[in-house]
Amino acid sequence: MLNLVVAKNAGYCFGVKRAIEETKKLLSNKKKVYVIGDLIHNEVVINELKKEGLVVLNDVNEIDNLHNEEVIIRSHGIEKKIKEKLINNRNNVTDLTCPFVSKIQNIVFEESNNGKSIIVIGDKNHPEIKGIVSYASGPIEVINNEEDIKGLKISNYEEVVVVFQTTSNIEKSKKLVDILHKLYYNLKIIDTICKTTKMRQDEVFDLSKKMDYMIIIGGKSSSNTKKLYDISSQNCKNSFLINDKLELDSIKIIENSNVGVCAGASTPPEIIEEILTYARTKF
Ligand code: F3S
Repeated sequence: MLNLVVAKNAGYCFGVKRAIEETKKLLSNKKKVYVIGDLIHNEVVINELKKEGLVVLNDVNEIDNLHNEEVIIRSHGIEKKIKEKLINNRNNVTDLTCPFVSKIQNIVFEESNNGKSIIVIGDKNHPEIKGIVSYASGPIEVINNEEDIKGLKISNYEEVVVVFQTTSNIEKSKKLVDILHKLYYNLKIIDTICKTTKMRQDEVFDLSKKMDYMIIIGGKSSSNTKKLYDISSQNCKNSFLINDKLELDSIKIIENSNVGVCAGASTPPEIIEEILTYARTKF
């Protein structure tokens, strides 16, 4: 029998939980509710909400056709001009941007208006970052690794504010900040990594040192889930990222092993439970 140790911070975070609950409330009163991009990175949940009337728009050009509709802004947030267009087109907009993300948008807006240049540590292709960048009125650049730092155009005599994607890898970000400190004389660091992310990453880091195997549950396109997997893999070579119970079939786990389990912020409790039950019966 396996010794399954489940992380305390596995599964839905506050921002995702709120987005799902509010969406369900809206769907119970309306036939159709639109969201720009997937509400969360979990296909099972999205497909169920689609059956209830959720319409996911993946092409921002489709926004032009939305008038007088019920529209949700997901927890990642959205680009400023897209939000303005939705409102101008008289849609009823429910902004479910996670407060931790809105905080970064506000910091960028204010600091940028005060003449500061902004460096964002994160993935420039992630919707959260695209949204954050859109709130700057002056220079803003996104970096994700040392190579990106070499390409920075912001000069070292400028006043620079550094913010972070909410789900950034803490250790990796610290290393990048150390390099930035050597390059810039006037650097203000504002830690915007969300608390849930910090606690979850710390827990996975500690757990993965003690366990024989680590199972991280979540969507393969979920940024925070992938980071949990990366952290786990540093300490435990038997780390696996799975999305559903059937993926356990391809993993060989030796009897009586210690198996740590954590899940990304978009993973519903039912999926975690289903995988745990399957693991208990299978191994
Ligand atoms: Fe918000 Fe943190 Fe979740 S930023 S959406 S509470 S991972």
